[in-house]
Amino acid sequence: MAYDTIIVDSRDGVGLITLNRPKALNALSSTLIAEVSKALDGFEADEKIGAIVITGSEKAFAAGADIKEMSSLSYMDAYLGDFITPWDRVAQCRKPVIAAVAGYALGGGCELAMMCDFILAADTAKFGQPEITLGVMPGAGGSQRLTRFVGKSKAMEMCLTGRMMDAEEAERSGLVSRIIPAEDLIDEAMKTAKKIADFSLPIVMMTKESVNRSYETTLKEGLLFERRLFHSMFATDDQKEGMAAFVEKRTAQFSNK
Ligand code: CAA
Repeated sequence: MAYDTIIVDSRDGVGLITLNRPKALNALSSTLIAEVSKALDGFEADEKIGAIVITGSEKAFAAGADIKEMSSLSYMDAYLGDFITPWDRVAQCRKPVIAAVAGYALGGGCELAMMCDFILAADTAKFGQPEITLGVMPGAGGSQRLTRFVGKSKAMEMCLTGRMMDAEEAERSGLVSRIIPAEDLIDEAMKTAKKIADFSLPIVMMTKESVNRSYETTLKEGLLFERRLFHSMFATDDQKEGMAAFVEKRTAQFSNK
């Protein structure tokens, strides 16, 4: 499959999507979003793929939605065209998706990273929601997901001032799971994704579903959801294999059944 705005690769059970519009700092054009969606469709359908990494360049994960493309949109273009909704494909991915962020993750770039399951940040990463400087507000989840990650005070300040957060502040405030030296970012992201891909895929997918459910429901309902999934895992071959391997002091060979 030929792509114009991304590079798609896979190894060791991990799918890698590299955003590739260097001249526009990986601005998220509609073509780029459509191509990311297509690549995700391919990885979801490929039973050899157990986890996915989305990354950008050293300078920019992505500098936001493509301002040149959207600047002349009318309200009806945005509303009837359902602008931004196709981006949801990333959040709806059933397999785990890691964002490996170096450089700028601004506006839609920060929002795209937050749609992934967790963010690994290079020490060069900079996160921000500068939409206010363009006369708009975040439109792909920035005012909602960022608030859940970092709390109201910091999210409000970032959305209202457009201030950027560096990697240290992003880690301290819970936006990213870890900081990695920039030169090691891709290797570390691929290693982390491979670790996940080596586990049982259905168990990984259910675990992802359960953690995500905690954002969308009450604690009581979430705990019930978790308990039901946990019980259902005793119907899998992989639970039998995983526990037998522990008892027999060997490495588990999961069959995704
Ligand atoms: N859309 C389109 N083009 C962009 C872009 C964007 N979001 N961000 C950068 N570019 C382009 C620039 O126009 C420039 O192109 P030309 O060479 O053709 O002029 C090229 O990328 C390089 O950018 P700069 O020269 O500006 O690079 P810099 O190093 O001086 O600055 C930057 C880097 C601080 C990231 C700056 O480019 C910038 O502020 N970009 C815009 C960030 C932004 O406002 N993002 C939010 C977009 S709105 C949004 O995302 C809405 C939403 O919630 C969905």
